[in-house]
This record gives sequence, structure tokens and C-alpha cells, in this order.
Amino acid sequence: MAGNFVQPKLIVHGGAGSSLHGGKSIESVRRSLYEIVEPIYALLLEGVSAHEAVVQGCQMLEDNPRFNAGTGSVLQSDGQIRMSAALMAGKTQRFSGVINVSRVQHPIELAQFLQNSDDRVLSDFGAAELLRELKLPVYNPMTNLRLQEWIREREHNFEDDAAGVVAEPELLTTSEPRRGTIGVVVLDREGNLAAGTSTGGKGFERIGRVSDSAMPAGNYANPHAAVSCTGIGEDIIDECLAARIVVRVTDGMSLEQAMQRSFAEAQQNRRDFGAIAIDATGAIAWGKTSQVLLAAYHDGNQLGDTLEWTGEALTSFAA
Ligand code: GLY
Repeated sequence: MAGNFVQPKLIVHGGAGSSLHGGKSIESVRRSLYEIVEPIYALLLEGVSAHEAVVQGCQMLEDNPRFNAGTGSVLQSDGQIRMSAALMAGKTQRFSGVINVSRVQHPIELAQFLQNSDDRVLSDFGAAELLRELKLPVYNPMTNLRLQEWIREREHNFEDDAAGVVAEPELLTTSEPRRGTIGVVVLDREGNLAAGTSTGGKGFERIGRVSDSAMPAGNYANPHAAVSCTGIGEDIIDECLAARIVVRVTDGMSLEQAMQRSFAEAQQNRRDFGAIAIDATGAIAWGKTSQVLLAAYHDGNQLGDTLEWTGEALTSFAA
């Protein structure tokens, strides 16, 4: 019955980090994010479940070479791509993920498969074995821009902390550290929440380094709230950010209070990250300690984004 349905909500991110370079970059990132928010929101209106919408949104973001996940993932110190992804369904409060997987187009697809498995988080060898079992085609996610970025950094002995948050030719001439990752958070028509996050990692990192994206620190959901994080994984892990926000909402804080408290603590601790969130009431929130958070949302009435949100506030809300 139509009367039992809630207004779906959706927010996605394509990373957090240093400011984008100029209006052209902002406009093209905005277009890329809206091109994902609009069709995924239409699916939610048709009744697609939160976790299915999260997977489809993550796949679209993984396919866009601009963002650091799937195609366009950053290269690690040895020139290889290793990706991580996680999915958490709020209703079942079940987390699944893959850590440091290679040669797959959509790491989130593996996390989705693992939702119904006894063993729900797989690392490199296990993830490669799962790829073989599922007969997924071998796929090379490397792009020329990311390869050039790596070659340039190798010439400078990997002095940057992290690779570019988005892959843009003009960014190859700068040496500012930026961070990427993609994420999708959804409240569906049935009132169920879900969160998904996927990443190529920080870029130029030590072999075997594990990202926050496939940990509850970086991606967490229960029936009360759902959160996806982006930024420096070590900072996200140290704050246990996604789980911290969700637990605070579960224990009675509003999403607004939970975000404000968590980001005030993060700023005090000099962390460098951002997060997107939705709660069971339909409140959409985002926060950052980084210079910029690349996020866009649909609140049922309108599209919005955070690309030019560079003010003093640590967190903000959609209606
Ligand atoms: N947040 C992505 C990473 O640090 O790997």
C-alpha cells in the first residue's frame, strides 16, 4: 500500500581531499555525481531495495575512471592495483567485504555475493579464488592517467602522502596530497538503510596495507543509521568513524548531534576525512575535516551537492 512507503533518500560520494582546481573541475565532478544520483534515485522510487541500490550506485562510481575505485583506481607503491569494498545492510546488520582484490571490474559485486556467505570478509587470495569460482571475467582497472600519476610520483620517490582524489590531467602537475574512495548510502521505500564503499586505497602505499573501506570503521549500517567514509584510512580507523556515528544514533543521539560530536573530536585529533550518512528518519548528513568532500544527494525534492561547501562548519544536513 502506497501509504506505508517512506520517501527514499540517497547520498553518494566520490572522495574527499584537497580543493578541486577551478570551476571546470567542479562542474565536471558535479555532472559525474548527478549522472549517478538521478538514475539510482529513480530506481529507489520504483521500489528497488536499499542494498541493491547501493550496489548499483557503487558499480556506476567504480566504472567512472575519474574516481578512485574500480576503473581508475590508484596504483600502489609497486605499481599494482589492489582494491577493497564493503557492503552493509542495515536491516540484517550484516557486513561483507573484500580486501586488496585485483583484476575485477566491480569489487562491490564480490561484497554483495558475500552477504549470504558464512565467510563474509575475504582478503587477497580468498578474493581471487572467489573471482575464479564466480567465473567473473579478468579485468584490468588501470587507466593511463593513474599510470602517469604513479610514474610521476616514482620520479619523486613517492614523497606524496596519497594519490589524487579524482583523476584529472591538470592534477598531474600538482603535488598536493588528495584522497579518493567512493560510497553510497540509501534509505529505501521500505525504510531500510544500507551503505557501500569501494576504493583503490591511498595510492603509493606499502604492499599489503589494508584500507578502512572494507572495515566497519569505514562503512557501517544498522536499522538506525548508515555511514560511508572517505579520506585517509588510518585516520578513519583511529576514529572508528562509521561505526562511531551509527552507535551514537542507536544510543539516542540525533544524526545531527552524532555527526557534530564525531567531527568535532576528529578535528581535535587532526584527522583528514569525510563521511556521508542517512538515518531512519530520512535525515541526510555529511561532514568533513578535509578541504573538500565530493558528495551529491537526492532528498526526494531536489538534487544537491557538497562540492563548493568549504565553510567553517564541520557537518551539514539536507532537509
Ligand atoms: N579511505 C581509503 C583508504 O584510505 O584506503
